[in-house]
Amino acid sequence: MMKHFGLVAGLTVSLLLGACGRGGVNAERIVAAEKNGEWLSYGRTYSEQRFSPLDKINATTVGQLGLAWYGQFDTDRGQEATPIMVDGILYATTSWSKVHAYDAKTGRELWSYDPGVDRAKGFQACCDVVNRGVAAWGGNVYVGTLDGRLVALNAKNGHKVWSVQTTDNAKPYTITQAPRVVKGRVLIGNSGAEYGVRGYITAYDARTGAKVWRFYTTPNPTGAADGEASDSALKDHAAPTWPGEGWKLTGGGGTVWDATIYDPDLNLVYFGVGNGTPWSPAARSDGKSDNLFLSSIVAVNADTGAYVWHYQVTPNDSWDFDADQPLMLADLALNGASRRVVMQASKNGFFYVIDAKDGKFISAKPYAAVTWATGIDANGRPVEATGAHYETKAAMNSMPGPYGAHNWHPMAYSPREGLVYIPAMGVPFSYENAPNYKYQAGAWNTAVRGDLNGLAETDAAREATRLYLTGALVAWDPVKQEARWTVKNNYFWNGGVLATGGGLVFQGDAEGVLTAYAAHDGKALWKSPSAGQGIVAAPMTYEIDGEQYLAVLVGAGGSGPTSAAFFLPQTPKLDGRILVFKIGGKATAPAYVVPATESLDLKEITSSGDVGRGALLYANYCLVCHSPNASGQFLPNLRRSPMLINPQDWQGIVYDGKNASRGMAAFKPFLTPSQVEDVRAYVLSEAMKRP
Ligand code: HEC
Repeated sequence: MMKHFGLVAGLTVSLLLGACGRGGVNAERIVAAEKNGEWLSYGRTYSEQRFSPLDKINATTVGQLGLAWYGQFDTDRGQEATPIMVDGILYATTSWSKVHAYDAKTGRELWSYDPGVDRAKGFQACCDVVNRGVAAWGGNVYVGTLDGRLVALNAKNGHKVWSVQTTDNAKPYTITQAPRVVKGRVLIGNSGAEYGVRGYITAYDARTGAKVWRFYTTPNPTGAADGEASDSALKDHAAPTWPGEGWKLTGGGGTVWDATIYDPDLNLVYFGVGNGTPWSPAARSDGKSDNLFLSSIVAVNADTGAYVWHYQVTPNDSWDFDADQPLMLADLALNGASRRVVMQASKNGFFYVIDAKDGKFISAKPYAAVTWATGIDANGRPVEATGAHYETKAAMNSMPGPYGAHNWHPMAYSPREGLVYIPAMGVPFSYENAPNYKYQAGAWNTAVRGDLNGLAETDAAREATRLYLTGALVAWDPVKQEARWTVKNNYFWNGGVLATGGGLVFQGDAEGVLTAYAAHDGKALWKSPSAGQGIVAAPMTYEIDGEQYLAVLVGAGGSGPTSAAFFLPQTPKLDGRILVFKIGGKATAPAYVVPATESLDLKEITSSGDVGRGALLYANYCLVCHSPNASGQFLPNLRRSPMLINPQDWQGIVYDGKNASRGMAAFKPFLTPSQVEDVRAYVLSEAMKRP
């Protein structure tokens, strides 16, 4: 966003006011932060390049990084947030949508806020009960809560200023994304497309919480207009692309659950749209059509929410290929001219460069292993591989699958190197239609068999699979559309990325190690001691009193650890932390106390249930949180659950929801007691195989 640098001089006065904390956060200040070291918004600035010009931590000094301070959280679920730093206060959110405010220099906790999310809501969070951060504007900070509220808090003391319910809480909507504030309006979307919702993004007045505009991403199933900003775009572009009836029950999906950026020059808000409900287009829409605006990048007018352009990344999506991966604005030198572009390392494995003004496709190339398509044609449409549409043919194996070649984990761009740093993955998936799929409101609704992606039978085969799943930090040249360097991680599902003016790139990994790489060649220059559990969040940086700080949240979580725990380091759930480093930092964080695993003797235990039926039910209803073959570790390992011993205990939890207040919901609405016993029979059989 080089164009904005010219604005900086004229803004000195408001900047100084802001820096004293009197002016609060405003648009000029966020734009000016492109040039200075502030971190005022989720992706640092509106362009979300996550490039900080701060350079005191650099190749020469990085070796002296040490812990300046740490903060202890009170929740053991995943920590995905990027903190922001405003006027000396560091704001971080944790799972269950809690907010913590710290003195950014000393780490003293100034206040915290717990919105009191009903833990039963955790059932509707496909990918853990995470939250990605707050937004700041004026004297407030804003948080979206898992149960669909948008809450404004006084930035100084954490007192609630206003709160609005942004979703119909009778439906399986959740919020995990960080709000963004553009021109005094707070933008917030939602999640839930695996369960049956209709996606949208809403703008609320930052002072009052009054709704300003809303953009729905799928047509209203009733055929009526909504009276919202999206009406004409849905009528003109989307409605003709939705044949069939399946989506009318589910709402179609298409949630705006993460990526949201803003271009102040073009006055456009860009957002990514997620997958459809269900995944299978045969069950969703007779398998015939593109289903706009699913899996698309959409640009709307920031003032009105009116449609300006869209680019569909994965038309007729069958594979859960959201286009919600972080978006980024940049000025690239293309064919000798500077062009403002939107970039995305999309879930489907291709890196997209799109014209920011009109949405015109510029280029796309695979940045990771891709087998479902052979390329992207000149019009920007994928050239699908033969047999890719499993819903009309036999089962198919794809690279990537629902985890994506890149997921929500923030990427970073160094304008100095001309490189985008992508936290990439290689996780294959087998797709096949779920036999006899029928929509169940509020349940897992993908119409895809889950049981094809179980664990291999032997230790050796399981280890081979683990090694086959890859994670890599890819330094991608978006102009040449090729990797300049790649560093392989030991596991998939690693942390988001930060790039700095010190010529460094920072990434945490699944083993809890934060590494500083040289931005130009990927050489590892510094590694932190392991934080004791995995890092999935992105680091951020800020400066106070001439010292540069580096902050990152610790806490494994998200869909990797919940649904593929076996392939990640085997640490149990532990309370999250924030770690803040500086040159010469001397603090230490106490080592985690890992609870001992209790032994469980299941030899004499039997079940009247049917293992085969149980396996299918488990794959559809339990796998997403307890991992394939009951191999979960992050959420309870069911193979070691004492609840297996007595069928009544099992029914009490699984059927009646005895532990709903701790995030394990009742399956009474979806399963019969005898089906619940079938699942027990299956889990018991798995426990015998691998105690
Ligand atoms: C949305 C995520 C989610 C899904 C889906 C889910 N669970 Fe759970 N489950 C949890 C969480 C979280 C806990 C831990 C609650 C606590 O702290 O007590 C849990 C705990 C349990 C326990 C208690 C374990 C123990 O030893 O305390 C059992 C048994 C269980 N789940 C079985 C199942 C079965 C069977 C299914 C599928 C029919 C299922 N769960 C689906 C999240 C889930």
